Order: sequence, then C-alpha cells, then structure tokens
Amino acid sequence: MESRVKMPLLVVLLFSLVSGGLSITFTFKNNCPFTVWPGTLTGGNKPQLSSTGFELAPGASNSIDAGVGWSGRFWGRTTCSSSTGSFKCETADCGSSQVACNGAGAIPPASLVEFTLGSPDFYDISLVDGFNLALSVTPQGGSGGCPSVGCSANVNSVCPAELAVKRTDGTTVGCKSACGALGSPEYCCSGAHNTPETCPPTNYSKIFKDQCPQAYSYAYDDKTSTFTCGTGANYLITFCP
Ligand SMILES: *[C@@H]1O[C@H](CO)[C@@H](O)[C@H](O)[C@H]1NC(C)=O
Repeated sequence: MESRVKMPLLVVLLFSLVSGGLSITFTFKNNCPFTVWPGTLTGGNKPQLSSTGFELAPGASNSIDAGVGWSGRFWGRTTCSSSTGSFKCETADCGSSQVACNGAGAIPPASLVEFTLGSPDFYDISLVDGFNLALSVTPQGGSGGCPSVGCSANVNSVCPAELAVKRTDGTTVGCKSACGALGSPEYCCSGAHNTPETCPPTNYSKIFKDQCPQAYSYAYDDKTSTFTCGTGANYLITFCP
C-alpha cells in the first residue's frame, strides 16, 4: 500500500524536474518591419533543439526550450524565399535549402547571439563573423548579473565598401568582418597574431565596436563582451530591438 503511493509521487517529482525546473525558454521576437527567419545551432556535437529554423513575421514571437548545459547560437536570416525551388536567404543563410538549418550554421556575415547555459549562464552578441541584423538579449528572471545586451545600431549603414555585401541596386545588406573580407592574420588573430597581446583592435574592428560597444567586434574582444546571469533565467532574443 505504502509503496503504491510513493511510486506515483516520485514519477510526478521527476517529471516536474525534467519538464519545468531544468529547462530554459528562449523567446524570439521580431520587431523588424520585415520577416526574419531565425536559425539555431547547438554546439559541441550535442542534439539540435526542437527547431533549427523557423519563420517570424513582423511583430511575431516564438519560443524554444533548451536543457541545462545547452550551448549554441542564434541568428536571423533576412529576405528569404523559395522562388528558385529551394529555400534561400539574402543574409545569414545556412545553406540547408530549407527553413530548418538541420545542424548548419550561418554563412557570414551574420550577427550572432551565443549562449553557454550553466551556473551562471554566459551569453554574448558576436560580430566576429560580421553583421547582418540588429539584435538583443534580455534575461527574464535569474539571480545575479543578468544585464540586457544589445546591438541595435545598423552597422550596414557605416560599413566600408571593402567589407560591404551589396544587392545589385547598391543597398548594403551585410557587413563582413575584416577577417572574412581581407583574410589577413592581424584581422583574423591567426599566425603570429594568435594571442590577445598580439591581436589588438584594428581600424576595422573599431567600426563595429563604435556601433555596438556590447558586442564582440573581433576574436579577442572578450573583456567587454561576455555577460553572465545566475541560474533560473529565461531569455528574450529580439530582432531590430
Ligand atoms: C585600415 O587600415 C589599413 C592598413 O593601414 C588601410 O589600408 C585601410 O584603408 C584602413 N581602413 C579603414 C576603413 O580605415
């Protein structure tokens, strides 16, 4: 008799731990006046989230849950269509030919939101792979730290010609990193420049940093660009904050 009572209680307790207590909700909100197709990529050879890509109309929002310990990144694809027979986006395409990215990352240039969930959670906005879209991270709840972080400037509007990705009509739709566009070791922090000491900010990384001081502007920009939030937070990711 006693064991029959204990067993269901244990099941209920385990279920509530797994389904509620140990998952983190990411809510994606599109404040842009155009549709955005968010992409998600899980790091470390772990299983992908329940969605790796979806459509978000202007004003719409959508949520995805991740487990404790999850790490990965999010970005927003723009001007996507299937008019050529397979799904393609003008910026931050993941090359999957589908709305779902299925484990593929963004093709640069792409503004990224990066997370490592733990105690505490670490998060950042990265322009190391260039810029395509303004975005922000707003923690909801959580104990200790938990600043809102944003890159709300339109870096495309100040992008130097040698970094710009342009439409045929001349509109700049993305801004490559200096590493991506020019490839030299001093911009990529590679070769003799592979330490923070030998890879200082450059005239190009400063353009990104001036526009978005809270975002990573190049590989060793971490002192001012990584943020933490104590356990228990959910996160709102806004496009065009
Ligand atoms: C950055 O510096 C390089 C090397 O000195 C120069 O060739 C380039 O024109 C500069 N670019 C900008 C945007 O200032």
